Amino acid sequence: MKYGYFDDANREYVITTPRTPLPWINYLGSMEFFGLFSNTAGGYDFYKDAKLLRLTRYRYNNSPYDCGGRYYYIKDGDTVWNPGWQPVQTELDAYTCRHGMGYSVITGKKNDLEAELLAFVPISDNCEINRIKLTNLSSSKKEIDLFSYIEFCLWNAEDDSTNFQRNFSTGEVEVIGSTIYHKTEYRERRRHYAIYTVNKEVAGFDTSRDEFVGLYNGARNPQVVAEGKSHNSECHGWAPIGSHHLKVSLEPGASETFVFLLGYVENPKDQKFEAPNVVNKKPAIEMMSKYDTDAKVDKAFDDLKVYWDELLSKYTVNSEDEKLNRLVNIWNQYQCMITFNMSRSASYFESGMGRGMGFRDSCQDLLGFVHLVPERARERIIDIANTQFENGSTYHQYQPLTKRGNAAIGGGFNDDPLWLIACVCAYLRETGDFSILDEKCAFDNDESKATPLLDHLDRSFTYIATNLGPHALPLIGRADWNDCLNLNCFSEEPGESFQITGPSEGPVAESVFIAGLFVKYGKEYASLLSRIGKEDRAKEVTAEVDKMVAAVEDKGWDGEWFVRAYDAYSNPVGSKVCEEGQIYIEPQGMCVMAGIGVENGKAEKALKSVEEKLDTKFGITLLQPAYTKYHVELGEITSYPPGYKENAGIFCHNNPWIACAETVVGHGNRAFEVFKKTCPIYLEEISEIHRTEPYVYCQMVAGCDAPTFGEGKNSWLTGTAAWTFTAMSQYILGIQPTFDGLMVNPCIPSDNKGYKIKRTYRGCDYDIEIKNPNGVEKGVASMTVDGQAVDGNIIPIAKDKKQVSVVVTMG
Ligand code: BGC
Ligand code: NOJ
Repeated sequence: MKYGYFDDANREYVITTPRTPLPWINYLGSMEFFGLFSNTAGGYDFYKDAKLLRLTRYRYNNSPYDCGGRYYYIKDGDTVWNPGWQPVQTELDAYTCRHGMGYSVITGKKNDLEAELLAFVPISDNCEINRIKLTNLSSSKKEIDLFSYIEFCLWNAEDDSTNFQRNFSTGEVEVIGSTIYHKTEYRERRRHYAIYTVNKEVAGFDTSRDEFVGLYNGARNPQVVAEGKSHNSECHGWAPIGSHHLKVSLEPGASETFVFLLGYVENPKDQKFEAPNVVNKKPAIEMMSKYDTDAKVDKAFDDLKVYWDELLSKYTVNSEDEKLNRLVNIWNQYQCMITFNMSRSASYFESGMGRGMGFRDSCQDLLGFVHLVPERARERIIDIANTQFENGSTYHQYQPLTKRGNAAIGGGFNDDPLWLIACVCAYLRETGDFSILDEKCAFDNDESKATPLLDHLDRSFTYIATNLGPHALPLIGRADWNDCLNLNCFSEEPGESFQITGPSEGPVAESVFIAGLFVKYGKEYASLLSRIGKEDRAKEVTAEVDKMVAAVEDKGWDGEWFVRAYDAYSNPVGSKVCEEGQIYIEPQGMCVMAGIGVENGKAEKALKSVEEKLDTKFGITLLQPAYTKYHVELGEITSYPPGYKENAGIFCHNNPWIACAETVVGHGNRAFEVFKKTCPIYLEEISEIHRTEPYVYCQMVAGCDAPTFGEGKNSWLTGTAAWTFTAMSQYILGIQPTFDGLMVNPCIPSDNKGYKIKRTYRGCDYDIEIKNPNGVEKGVASMTVDGQAVDGNIIPIAKDKKQVSVVVTMG
């Protein structure tokens, strides 16, 4: 069942009922100010950090799920309704929500009155604009009361939801004309406040939740709306809110617009006040004046569209498969930008308070956005490298506001360092900017110890190479990519964190996955070293990589597939000798991607085993058979009920690894099939089962062992976005940036007769046409560049050209 449809020309998903199986959300904001915006206008805003600088309040884990947002109540005669249906839930005569690139438009209709709510964050400003347009479609005059309502968060979202003995006394506001200034804690240490304003004269306002909503009513039936008149309340402590009352008179056919703005404003420390305890409003007034007319809002909205047009022009495919085009050209790249901005911090499943920026998460996310915003990718790389430790190991996460490592979920996740090599190489292959390798990066943010980025990469590599276990495989440490395979944890106490309990460095538990990762990115590192003339080190690195390949082929091979790990007793994990969890997906994908076993058939065998043992109609499960009991020596993975999350869920992130691996052995048909099974766009028709948004990937789909097989969870913030884009754009469609130009190496279904790619690369636009006259899955027979035949499949870097045409014939 569908709950809407794709409008590709406008790059929108159009939701046609407010009753989606879960809130279907969008993200507003591109730089530093962000909003989460659901199809019923739920969600919240923050500046830079969803935990520390939260502007509006949101209650997670609520019933209904989506409580709190920017709500506009329309009182038209006796009927009260909201354009987005929530929270009043008055049945609407018509409803759509268009989620587009960085904006959403909700249109509701009731009793011949239409209300259109456009929400977006201007490109480089710290505010969310909500423009409401009311149109009288009836043949008689309408007198309408419009009430706005948002609930302020007292900045630190965690404190806000726990520290009530203090918070109920700190709230403060000022109201001047149509503007509400939320200034809690401003009198002491904060020098920022929030504003909520509207560009018209108001009939009244409220800033006290108890007054507006009423002590016993709730947002579904606010007191003030029922009475039809604001209380002009000034809040002192308790819950500060912002509400405006506008009286609107509409002749038949007439429309009127109202621009509401929720903004974040900062003052210099010595210019906080204009009078004792009266906030300096200068920057707020400047901000408001930029959006106080329709024309100014139109202009800001156009700028946003231009920004996205530009970004999404860098890689486009034109194929016969409309869904593929839609995924690649619009939604996958959009989701990559969102994961760039949010990492794993703020979604409808991530509260914004828990996790900062993950080290490995941010490194992998970069694979999906480096072609879009290379300068920002450069900055991100330096931020990440600055948090590394001198011995090459890393924190597991860092805080976006301070950019410092954060030990909250510990360190010693031994895959982390290698992802730094992955993202730096991706950056170099995209940009050719080798100067980044000389950039001085600190250790644990201590500038006095800064060394060039290249040295950081070397320490990453060396850390893994010198921390091997009894089978000459890398020690797993706290965990590897699979945060829940906790081989050194041994937790027996309820509530203990699996991620920080037990020693971070167990002496023997080893990871075959890290071994594969080491081989893949060790090879890349060696080729980088050769490329910059460091042949001696390149040879040493290659020698280490070769040793690791041998170790994997020897102790990391189970006969039909790659072993997953060795536990703290040196027993294999993910082996046929195990009672449960005999085969895991991760080492099959990573080892084959690294090229291990390609020559001797092990790679083919491993992938066949994946197909036979792990595959389902909704994607490949993480492991089989699912764990039915808690295994103390394996940790969190066995704490999940069978079929959920890492315990045999379809963990979308590693499905594209299998798609990539299939291309390594030339299986274009299977690679595409793997891709299709988890791709939300192909699942739109079964949205009632899948439940999460059909336009973005979710982290996990319940596996075949789960009672809710096929149900998605944790949408939006997942490494799946970047890895799918990598798998599709580079491994399947086959446009791979190398240090010295674009390589064309498609691996596609045999019935694909060809497609076209437009790719902006190092300042030049490449028009690439792929022809597949003989229906092969892989192989380039010939290539011409601007009509000239070229040997091999690397398009030489176009030095003085802005436009290059390439024709590739497979065969
Ligand atoms: C989740 C993982 C996540 C980890 C760290 C676990 O509970 O299952 O997916 O990576 O927590 O936050
Ligand atoms: C989600 C985490 O963000 C990611 O870092 C991890 O690799 C996966 N879960 C698997 O556990």
